[in-house]
Amino acid sequence: MPTLFPLLSLSLLLLSLPSSSAFEYSDALHKSILFFEGQRSGKLPPTQRLQWRGNSGLSDGSSANVDLVGGYYDGGDNVKFGLPMAFTITMLAWSVIEFGDRMAGEKDYAAAAVRWGSDYLLKAATVSPNALYVQVADPNADHRCWERPEDMDTPRNIYKVTNQNPGSDVAAETAAALAAASIVFQHSDPSYSSRLLQTAKKVFDFADRFRGSYSDSLSSVVCPFYCSYSGYQDELLWGAAWLQRASGNATYMSYIKSNGHVLGAEDDDFSFSWDDKRVGTKVLLSKAFLEQKVAGLQLYKVHTDNYICSLVPGSSGFQAQYTPGGLLYRETGSNLQYVTSTAFLLLTYSKYLSSSGGYTNCGSTTVSASTLISLAKKQVDYILGENPAKISYMVGFGGKYPLHVHHRGSSIPSTRALPGHISCNDGFQYLHSSSPNPNVLVGAIVGGPDSSDGFADDRANYQQSEPSTYINAPMVGALAFFAGAATA
Ligand SMILES: *[C@@H]1O[C@H](CO)[C@@H](O)[C@H](O)[C@H]1NC(C)=O
Repeated sequence: MPTLFPLLSLSLLLLSLPSSSAFEYSDALHKSILFFEGQRSGKLPPTQRLQWRGNSGLSDGSSANVDLVGGYYDGGDNVKFGLPMAFTITMLAWSVIEFGDRMAGEKDYAAAAVRWGSDYLLKAATVSPNALYVQVADPNADHRCWERPEDMDTPRNIYKVTNQNPGSDVAAETAAALAAASIVFQHSDPSYSSRLLQTAKKVFDFADRFRGSYSDSLSSVVCPFYCSYSGYQDELLWGAAWLQRASGNATYMSYIKSNGHVLGAEDDDFSFSWDDKRVGTKVLLSKAFLEQKVAGLQLYKVHTDNYICSLVPGSSGFQAQYTPGGLLYRETGSNLQYVTSTAFLLLTYSKYLSSSGGYTNCGSTTVSASTLISLAKKQVDYILGENPAKISYMVGFGGKYPLHVHHRGSSIPSTRALPGHISCNDGFQYLHSSSPNPNVLVGAIVGGPDSSDGFADDRANYQQSEPSTYINAPMVGALAFFAGAATA
């Protein structure tokens, strides 16, 4: 560029660049948050912007005389799964906590998306003593139908963990979500925030005292859907780390110090997701070491640095897989969940490094905060369209995006367009139709391409074309980072 425009100063050059050469990160941020309105269960508020959705699941919980109305559907079905929902809320809240000051007018919408989830988790944790409700609907029955949530007539069974049938994984993740949400509302709604924090403490205590995996207690309805493959130790530490950050109570720091060994260093495969919380916990705890030099926490920076090095091609410790087009690749199914969570952790860690003057060493290579930002930007830009297929993996963003999203509500004409009841089996014609989805699920990020950057845009290929709340949640923070930087 300088040789082409020798007379222009750098700032003039930047001003003269056509806007199409950079992504509209603020538009992507706006859409990434709007997506959560499409996943809402319960009675929609007057402020609902995504107009093709209607009320659903209005009697959830009534079979046991409890109120479990609200919350989010995880993806393209109509089940409310507690573990991924709680993880989604933790990550949405973390996005607001770290990057809310870069969200401008979107911050209130992001907080509303957190609250839609935290309101539900509060109910699930408090409607009956010594129990946490962790799921609504039998997923096997739900998956045998292709129905709009508004028409749903499949069994809305409810499932709970108790001291007799424990679920420390789902309970500790719920505690993490409530604690993280309490930070989001600390100033804007102090009484709500303190209710969230008090409930988080109780739920964490319940998770820690009655130990076991919900995959054992509720095997047939949570596995294989959201089986806790990583066990519950990772969630206990993650929950304690969030309670420590939200409350500042020394009890949680000593809990972390005496149980931290379970996070593992040698065998961590660095797959931060709704199941495995280890890397996220390491990044979260490295903040206290970097910024406040809390004794005994240096280990977490060392572990986080190992994670960072695993992502940097050419450095010692490199072990990640990238597609030829440059996308981080871990799994056939819903791969973009790992991409968005990694981008978020890179940006969050870059923030902690910047605020403390720290850096990462990978053998003889020094990795600075700005390197982490470029790594994250490459992944975010790939998702938004800078990829071999020249497609945006965010629905409704850019000129070309997935049209056959694996999502019941989006693929069947809305109740406004087609008011009659469409029953379980009658919906399948829409799953199998080659037409684009009639309702655009704006902002949804789908599972994404395969290991050679190929993408089918096929509704039957749920591994590539299904969106989920936990793909989007960390992307909200990553997009805020770049949106804020663009307007700063
Ligand atoms: C810290 O948390 C513990 C466990 O919940 C509680 O017993 C204690 O009172 C708390 N301390 C403060 C200062 O709030």
